[in-house]
This record gives sequence, structure tokens and C-alpha cells, in this order.
Amino acid sequence: MTENLVLGKKIAEGKTKIVYESTNANEVILEFKDDITAGDGLKHDVIPGKGYLNCAISAKLFEVLESAGVPTHFIKYIPPNYLIVRKVTMLPVEIVCRNIAAGHLLQRFPVKAGDPLNPPLVEFFLKDDELHDPMLNDMHMAYLKLANRDECDEIRKITLQVNDALKEFFASKGIILVDFKIEVGRDGSGRFLVSDEINGDSCRLWAETEKGKIFDKDVYRKGGSLEEVKNVYVTLYKKLIGQEPKY
Ligand SMILES: Nc1ncnc2c1ncn2[C@@H]1O[C@H](COP(=O)(O)OP(=O)(O)O)[C@@H](O)[C@H]1O
Ligand SMILES: [Mg+2]
Repeated sequence: MTENLVLGKKIAEGKTKIVYESTNANEVILEFKDDITAGDGLKHDVIPGKGYLNCAISAKLFEVLESAGVPTHFIKYIPPNYLIVRKVTMLPVEIVCRNIAAGHLLQRFPVKAGDPLNPPLVEFFLKDDELHDPMLNDMHMAYLKLANRDECDEIRKITLQVNDALKEFFASKGIILVDFKIEVGRDGSGRFLVSDEINGDSCRLWAETEKGKIFDKDVYRKGGSLEEVKNVYVTLYKKLIGQEPKY
């Protein structure tokens, strides 16, 4: 077990992370697992070391957001695969922001793969694997008591701030931020914090110079071998952190 870390009771376990209580009631500890899933959890594998890489990358990207003044849950990275974060009440919603047309959008919107989306498109989806994560508009959000209209505006504003900060950071590493998914939660005072994780599982990332080269989970979705997928996460780690992985 990692030093300086006291894991409390397990509160929740999802597809890629476990949530533990911390000794501080306002915080929780996220453990990143080596699991990788796609297609609403139907495709599932385990890639040793993936939890570490994604946790370290998430920590780095949360630091980038904090430096840009975006409110996040991030407190501390405990290597190899733990984040200490502010405890929030999560919204069971995936907030997607798109700069370039890719993925599911192509099947339900009149755009072609690779079309620039300017201004960026922000979409809400209910986290519900059985219903295949249906898209929500502001009235659905209000009906399900997830967020009122002003709060939907606030979430979109935060999402666009995330986009600006991450786009600039990735560009400095020669990477194009095609799209990404975030999740938000409310802290004790009701303020929205960017929570959960941000890494190659939740972003589409394309190389600026090498056409067709990608650094994200699409390699897995499209049937790449587990070795290829691991290499992609290692490459992303090296590009973003600027050193070899330690674990
Ligand atoms: N700051 C936080 N406070 C409380 N719960 C959190 C926080 N950040 C993430 N979580 C929760 O961690 C859980 C595990 O994450 P994950 O494995 O990604 O779940 P899922 O399979 O639902 O995507 C999720 O239920 C998520 O809501
Ligand atoms: Mg998740």
C-alpha cells in the first residue's frame, strides 16, 4: 500500500475506479483500476499499468485546469494510482464538448468526420448503460431534477473553460483536442466542480502532424490489441508528463 494513504470504507465502484472514504469527511479517495471498457461496458479488458497511467494523466490535467482557474475536485495525486479529491454529489450526466466531428455524432447529426465544430458543441447525456446514455436537453435535465436551466448554462460555461484550457495545453504538446467528456458534481455549498477523471479514456486526441495517429481509447474501441492500447497510453503519458512512466 502506498505511503501516506489511509483508505476508508469503499463507497462505490464503477467500471474504471473505486471510491473510498478518507479520514477527512469532505474528501474521498479514487483508486484507478486497470480495467478498460467500451460500448456501454460490453467490451471489457484489463491492461496492467493502465490505472497508473490514467491516474497520473488525470492529475496532470486537473492541475492544468486548476492553474486556469477552473473549479475541480482535485486535491492531490498519490502515486501510482490514487487521487485525493473533494467529495461531491455527482450528477449522473456525461458532458461532452466537441471541437471536431467524430464518434457517435456522425450517426445522428449532419456533419462529416473531421468537420470543425465552431463554436464547440456541448452536449449532455444521461449516464445509463441500459438506455445507452440518451442525450438530454435542458428540459430533460430539469425534468429529471438534475439541474435547472441556469445550472445547465453554468455547466456549459465551465465545460467551455475546460475546453479552452485543455485545448491550449494539448496544443503545446502537438496534440489536437478533438472532443472530451467530463463529469461534474456539487460540493457542500452547491458549487459545481469538474470531477471524476480526464485522460485518454475520456478525450479524443489526434496528432497535429502525423495524419491518422491517435492517442486515446479509440484504439481500443476500433479493435487494437491490448499491447497497442497500452502503448498509446504510455505515449500519451510521455507527451504530457515529459518523462518515462515510473511504474
Ligand atoms: N469527487 C468525487 N466525489 C464522489 N464521487 C466521485 C467523485 N469523482 C468521481 N466519483 C465517482 O466515482 C465512481 C467511479 O467512477 P467510474 O469507475 O468511472 O464509474 P462509472 O462506471 O459510472 O463511469 C463514479 O460513481 C463517480 O460518480
Ligand atoms: Mg467512468
